Amino acid sequence: MSSSATAEVRPLTAREFEQFRRLAYENFGLDLREGKQTLVAARLGKQVQKLNFRSFNEYYRYVLEDRTGDALRALIDALTTNHTSFFREPAHFDFLRGTILPGVRGRGRIAIWSAACSTGEEPYSIAFSVLEELGEAAPDKVHILATDISTRVLAEAECAAYPSARFAGIPPQQLHRYLLRGEGRFKNWYRVKPEVRGMIEFRRLNLMESFSHLGAFPVIFCRNVMIYFDRPTQQDLVNRLAASLEPGGYLLIGHAESLNAVRHPLQYIRPAIYKKAEGRAGR
Ligand SMILES: C[S@@+](CC[C@H](N)C(=O)[O-])C[C@H]1O[C@@H](n2cnc3c(N)ncnc32)[C@H](O)[C@@H]1O
Repeated sequence: MSSSATAEVRPLTAREFEQFRRLAYENFGLDLREGKQTLVAARLGKQVQKLNFRSFNEYYRYVLEDRTGDALRALIDALTTNHTSFFREPAHFDFLRGTILPGVRGRGRIAIWSAACSTGEEPYSIAFSVLEELGEAAPDKVHILATDISTRVLAEAECAAYPSARFAGIPPQQLHRYLLRGEGRFKNWYRVKPEVRGMIEFRRLNLMESFSHLGAFPVIFCRNVMIYFDRPTQQDLVNRLAASLEPGGYLLIGHAESLNAVRHPLQYIRPAIYKKAEGRAGR
């Protein structure tokens, strides 16, 4: 972080930027356009320093040569933002409780997919909503699959411990129902109760790779990740997500995202909510 350490790294050249741009696009669908050079230099510069390289090119070669995939994973972690929060974009959770869950109440066990779950706030918010709506039946009725490309955020999500400030806005009754307050040096922390954690399965998954093996879902949350992808990548992803929806299933995307510019088979329901036609299997 010190300015003397920064000075030792040679500035990112246009050629190096192009190398990282291609690497991020081919592996993760990330769209690092022209203007992103400063951002790439700042974010990857930290990695370069941490690993004691003197140039971005040395770091680039190291990433290419690493057979474990860890270096590539650290690179994507550095380039993307993991920002999230409990009940982010609350209209989606109202829709889940008010429309989606009543529609599946009479069915057997269902699975809900949180497709870029970051540090877990999204799948835990889904679990709290399901518990509020379905009560004690919820754990037997609903399985939540939560995936992300980053193993670092997945580890945090599985740990399920958050500083109390992150729960601002959650009614105290819900807080007590689903969370345990820390003690001693964890006094200002809460941890999600084991019975809620047990509803969620965390798995690493790159949305650029096939996920057709996951089966079909009545609802997929894929929020605030498509924003990183260019239009062809978004179109391909949305069509594969649509194929992974049950007939009548819902795709929820981030409110800052839009499917206006991409061709897809889904019906617009309301901002950031799309539905697959009833009785239509596959794409
Ligand atoms: C801004 S967070 C969104 C978290 C949550 N969905 C929300 O809306 O609050 C974006 C997440 O997408 C993940 N991500 C980025 N590229 C991905 C990819 N190709 N496949 C799967 N996850 C990816 C990042 O690791 C990050 O955790």
